[in-house]
Amino acid sequence: MTPDLLQQGAQRVAEHAKLVSQATESGGRSAGYGRVVQDTAQVDVTHGRILYLEDVSVSFDGFKAINKLSLDIAPGELRCIIGPNGAGKTTMMDIITGKTRPDEGTVFFGSTIDLLRHNEPEIAQLGIGRKFQKPTVFEHLTVFENLELALKTPKGVKASMFFKLDSRQSDRLAEVLHTIHLQDSVRVQAGTLSHGQKQWLEIGMLLMQDPKLLLLDEPVAGMTDHETERTAELFLTLKGKHSLMVVEHDMSFIRTISDIVTVLCDGSVLAQGTLDQVQADERVIEVYLGR
Ligand SMILES: Nc1ncnc2c1ncn2[C@@H]1O[C@H](COP(=O)(O)OP(=O)(O)O)[C@@H](O)[C@H]1O
Ligand SMILES: [Mg+2]
Repeated sequence: MTPDLLQQGAQRVAEHAKLVSQATESGGRSAGYGRVVQDTAQVDVTHGRILYLEDVSVSFDGFKAINKLSLDIAPGELRCIIGPNGAGKTTMMDIITGKTRPDEGTVFFGSTIDLLRHNEPEIAQLGIGRKFQKPTVFEHLTVFENLELALKTPKGVKASMFFKLDSRQSDRLAEVLHTIHLQDSVRVQAGTLSHGQKQWLEIGMLLMQDPKLLLLDEPVAGMTDHETERTAELFLTLKGKHSLMVVEHDMSFIRTISDIVTVLCDGSVLAQGTLDQVQADERVIEVYLGR
């Protein structure tokens, strides 16, 4: 990365700095990005769980979208979540990230952080990153600028102008570029990337924050077979370094990446086990996989 590239990046980022602080449909984006990378609070995983949900319920107009949901995830685990449309998969992610408040239940990050006591930006700050279904990169910024932006504080144009990556951040950016297979596209405008590359870039933006837990909602929807394979490789490299919760319908993708698969239905866990185990489960076949 040359100084002029950094300079250009800072200037262009400054022009678009307002975008960062603009609220989105969910607030999730501004919650997730535009915060300083810092050593987040220690997450206590001595009990073997990074995420713990117990008896969580939420109703919308009397309809129980989440119904006594209990689930936990181990540190470094890559957990796949499957289930029919309307099962509550996205709503579960909304609850974990603070977008939706459950009516009852317990949601803990590690054994000491009660997520129900935190709002959406705080939860992002604690180290939970979320990837929504649609890619939402800044199309008119380059790949580099998008990744750089993910590190920035929303302190206004002037601060953005003088924002410089320190060496640790530059190293992180190079590492992330490599991880998401976009080293050769660093100066390319994000809008010209393929759908799959945009998804990887957005995952890269999350990785810039070094999240402890990553929630990914249907990440390979709309991808080509080749892009889906690359994404599977990417997730396998992330496993262990981060904990991941991946919602997907693509069974061959799930087969490539999964250890434990959780099947959600009607807002609670219907079955859990290896993909072979859940695929052989009569109840799962009935509600989801079909005969
Ligand atoms: N904000 C909301 N208001 C009303 N109903 C909702 C809301 N969010 C989700 N639902 C309903 O909750 C159920 C679960 O939805 P969702 O979590 O999106 O399922 P999935 O992601 O598994 O397809 C659906 O019936 C959906 O219509
Ligand atoms: Mg969904």
